[in-house]
Amino acid sequence: MKQQAPLYDFFTADHRRIEKIFSEAIKDTNNVDLEKYHEFRVGLLTHIKMEEKILFAAAQQANGGAPLPLQAKLRLDHGALTSLLVCFPAPQVIEMIRHIMEQHDILEEEQGGMYEACEKLTRQEREQILEDLKRVTPVPVHPFNKASYVLEVAKRSAKRAGFDFDVF
Ligand SMILES: [Fe+2]
Ligand SMILES: [Fe+2]
Repeated sequence: MKQQAPLYDFFTADHRRIEKIFSEAIKDTNNVDLEKYHEFRVGLLTHIKMEEKILFAAAQQANGGAPLPLQAKLRLDHGALTSLLVCFPAPQVIEMIRHIMEQHDILEEEQGGMYEACEKLTRQEREQILEDLKRVTPVPVHPFNKASYVLEVAKRSAKRAGFDFDVF
């Protein structure tokens, strides 16, 4: 019998949902559907909030207070994505988001990845976590900041996460 993995399933389904909204929004990268893109920003930021504040937090607690090995890297990715979402979705920004999201989701979803580790550690708290996830409210997003330094800030935070877009 396949072992139940409701948290893994929940977060993986949310990745697919967000990817779909993203690809709809950026069908034409020179003319992004800004309404869809707004939906994407809310979806991704809310997903990150659910991970940081609920799933990873519960796993860390169940791990005796010690962060899981992947946690620092994933947090840096979240930081990079969050700062990229402040930028206007120019083709270059979209490419960076697409690249980071792709690599990031693998680390969470793959066998032995973050979701599996969290699921194992939090078996006792599973019902509570699912309850908490249901109660999460969407993250409010701010208008884009079109200043050029914002992209530089985003690139720096991507670099901290191991993505060098100056040589991209
Ligand atoms: Fe994540
Ligand atoms: Fe995720």
